[in-house]
Amino acid sequence: MKNIFAAILMATLAIVSTGPIVSAQENPSPADQRRLFRKGAQLWPIYCNTCHNARPGSEKAPYEWDQVIMHMRTLGNLPPEDAKAILVNLKAR
Ligand code: HEC
Repeated sequence: MKNIFAAILMATLAIVSTGPIVSAQENPSPADQRRLFRKGAQLWPIYCNTCHNARPGSEKAPYEWDQVIMHMRTLGNLPPEDAKAILVNLKAR
């Protein structure tokens, strides 16, 4: 019986601890949005040109950028704040 409670506790903790992973997709305030847009404009050519030519924001729909950034962020080991700035910038262009 004790083992069942332990298993339920572990499963609950596993589900709760996945929260921060989606934080890059939260909607920033308008002021934050502008700050992130400018930061993203500076970082985009630096990071995204490292492995291939930097793709323009117009190449993908906003929902596609969510997924592409998630993948590229892992490949390039981008810091969360930088990935978020690039995402805001690409989605707006
Ligand atoms: C560490 C190297 C690396 C970095 C940095 C990187 N990419 Fe990529 N990217 C790849 C590789 C490798 C592929 C193709 C293979 C794959 O999808 O894993 C790719 C593919 C892509 C694709 C094509 C996917 C598709 O469905 O058309 C897009 C768009 C893209 N990258 C955008 C970006 C953007 C935007 C950035 C900057 C945030 C970035 N990449 C940074 C390595 C990188």
